[in-house]
Amino acid sequence: EIGEHASFMHKEMFEQPESLRRMLSGRLDHRFATVRLDGLGLDPRDLRSFKRVKAIGCGSAYYIGQLGASLIEDLARIPADAEPASEFRYRNPIIEPDTLYVAVSQSGETADTLFAVQEIQRKGGHVVGLVNVVGSSIARACGGGIYLHAGPEVSVASTKVLTHMGVGFAMLAVLLGRVRDLSHSDGARILAGLERIPDQVREILDREAEIGAVADVVADATSVFFIGRVRGYPVAREGAQKLKEISYLHAEAYPSSELKHGPLALISAEMPTVAIVPDDELVDRNIGALHEVSARQGPLVVVTHEAVEIDVEVARIDVPKNERELDPLLMTVPLQLLAHQVATRLGRDIDRPRNLAKSVTVE
Ligand code: BG6
Repeated sequence: EIGEHASFMHKEMFEQPESLRRMLSGRLDHRFATVRLDGLGLDPRDLRSFKRVKAIGCGSAYYIGQLGASLIEDLARIPADAEPASEFRYRNPIIEPDTLYVAVSQSGETADTLFAVQEIQRKGGHVVGLVNVVGSSIARACGGGIYLHAGPEVSVASTKVLTHMGVGFAMLAVLLGRVRDLSHSDGARILAGLERIPDQVREILDREAEIGAVADVVADATSVFFIGRVRGYPVAREGAQKLKEISYLHAEAYPSSELKHGPLALISAEMPTVAIVPDDELVDRNIGALHEVSARQGPLVVVTHEAVEIDVEVARIDVPKNERELDPLLMTVPLQLLAHQVATRLGRDIDRPRNLAKSVTVE
């Protein structure tokens, strides 16, 4: 039941602080500054043997896989990337024995992801699941994995489960990092950051009305750009996906660095850009991208941190600051709210967007 909420999507977004707290409970090991993920079925020697990590999933699960890969590179310093499972399975993939494959899926029933898992296993690769639905096909096929414990998600557009996936990747990154070169103090710093996430998500949700004001910038457009750099780029991609899925606006994500290599041609007063600008070592470059857009009269919505000074006109969404590795994940939450607000203004059927299904179990 959705109670006072306007949609399941809204209800599920607002469940996040509680569900995230549940997910973290009992999994953080403060003494050794690591995490307990017994369901993976991997001992420290197994964990050390992986030379690469590859996330596979479809749609939003793929975008969060990309965010997860960057967390793993940042924290564990293991080469990591993500690929749509739907592509992976058809390209006769080369399966490497020392790669840890991670199948990412809310439902655990997405046919493309399940087939990719079977292809990895047929070729002798090691795949674990990052799955929400307990006992689902992908969870069973993988054997080992990390259950997300987000509770049921009804809305076609995924929200809370994506945040759980991001936290799952952060935990995996700490685990892989702590059997390598991630120091005790850095491990402890990330654990403390993870513990702050539920309250910080709550703070973002509390600002729904503010984000509503920003939504007007987007709702009047027919096409919207999302830009982000390095670890902000998957956030931009997921933001564009969410807006597309429920508002039917054309939305496209680009790395901020690529703007000048093509997309700038489209910037005008009619084309708003949503930019991800965390307070990190790339902030000056990201502000440079805002200048490029602003000089061409492009309206700007900027997801950023309070400490970031922006000297062009923008609609700001400030999010609470966490650790720089975890900030991108928090920045996906206001984009959920933004998509919901825009779709509401446009009168869309938020929980049942046209042409989409919650899980695609056919090929
Ligand atoms: C798509 C949905 O069909 O499946 C996306 O429209 C979703 O929203 C994707 O992210 C993957 O689903 P799952 O259940 O494998 O995470």
